[in-house]
Amino acid sequence: MAKTESVQDTCVLVTGGCGFIGSHTVVVLLERGYEVVIVDDLSNSSEKVLDRIDQIVGDDAAQRLTFVRADVADKDALDAVFDEFQIDAVIHFAGYKAVGESVEKPIEYYSNNIGNTLALVDVMRNHGCKSIVFSSSATVYGDPDALPLTEESPKKPATNPYGWTKWMIEEILASLVVADPEWNVVLLRYFNPIGAHASGLMGEDPKGIPNNLLPYVAQVAVGRRDAVHVFGDDYNTPDGTGVRDYIHVMDLAEGHAAALAWMANKTGCEVFNLGTGTGTSVLEIIKAFSAACGRELPYVIEPRRAGDVTANYADCTKAREVLGWEAQYGIAEMCRDSWNWQSNNPNGYEG
Ligand SMILES: NC(=O)c1ccc[n+]([C@@H]2O[C@H](COP(=O)([O-])OP(=O)(O)OC[C@H]3O[C@@H](n4cnc5c(N)ncnc54)[C@H](O)[C@@H]3O)[C@@H](O)[C@H]2O)c1
Repeated sequence: MAKTESVQDTCVLVTGGCGFIGSHTVVVLLERGYEVVIVDDLSNSSEKVLDRIDQIVGDDAAQRLTFVRADVADKDALDAVFDEFQIDAVIHFAGYKAVGESVEKPIEYYSNNIGNTLALVDVMRNHGCKSIVFSSSATVYGDPDALPLTEESPKKPATNPYGWTKWMIEEILASLVVADPEWNVVLLRYFNPIGAHASGLMGEDPKGIPNNLLPYVAQVAVGRRDAVHVFGDDYNTPDGTGVRDYIHVMDLAEGHAAALAWMANKTGCEVFNLGTGTGTSVLEIIKAFSAACGRELPYVIEPRRAGDVTANYADCTKAREVLGWEAQYGIAEMCRDSWNWQSNNPNGYEG
């Protein structure tokens, strides 16, 4: 990144900073002393998260936060942001993320996720800002041949347009470094982010029916939905249900701060897995959440869902050795914090 030496002088543009992972990351950045500009069009988030961020970080730190409501694909709006602020680095969260929806709306997904990234890096280049951290995903590994997954594990063809957007944006950003060695690109491949801020003030608040397991389980726990749907109990795993590497969203947020600090004054393109290294089955999650909320949560077994892989979990050695980052929280804490958020905000930010 950064033409500056100290965090206090460093301004980070966070696209999608009102969303689930972005909002938790903004809290960590403000607490570290960064100046933060969020650009978000609120297509999948609520402006109310900004008050929650202020409450958590306090008035002094909140003064270092600016919110701009804009579509990242709107180059004029982005130009205005880069004109007004001396942006040193960008963390790029903004994008659509629902796998199933991407199959139904490929044009919207390719256009938003890839189109906004191209607009962003063009404006960044024109303003001489060439440091970017990108939200990639373990989805780029597809159905793995071997576990755990290291950054050297092969990328596999995606099974849906969402997955292809992550796959292709990684390639696009890597090409920037080939064309212009001044670029500084960090690709963070998240495993399965869950949990919430320990205060219970911020958490995941999906619009409509949740696509991911945890918000669905949490909504069953507060009585918004009847039962958890478990897709497949005949996988080759200890209890037959799919196994994933769940990571607490605050650990993920810390991972972004670690990546930013590490990349300062560097160039090149590096990839890091951000997970815990531990696989947990769907039934284990339901059990852990039941313990957190104090009642047995009902579930029904459904057929397998197309495109779901049997198991994946990360080898996070590289992030530990290079970034000095390691996940701190386990499944019990992730479920505790999700439950704290959901029980205090049964209808999310609108409740
Ligand atoms: N949550 C996960 O399981 C997961 C896993 C791997 C990768 N990711 C990636 O991490 C990123 C953040 O995920 P999240 O879970 O916080 O999602 P989210 O939907 O909660 O946050 C994304 C934010 O981006 C905003 N946005 C979308 N398109 C925009 C645009 N064109 N201009 C401005 N703002 C826009 C939305 O309003 C939202 O606030 C996404 O890129 C997602 O694909 C998420």
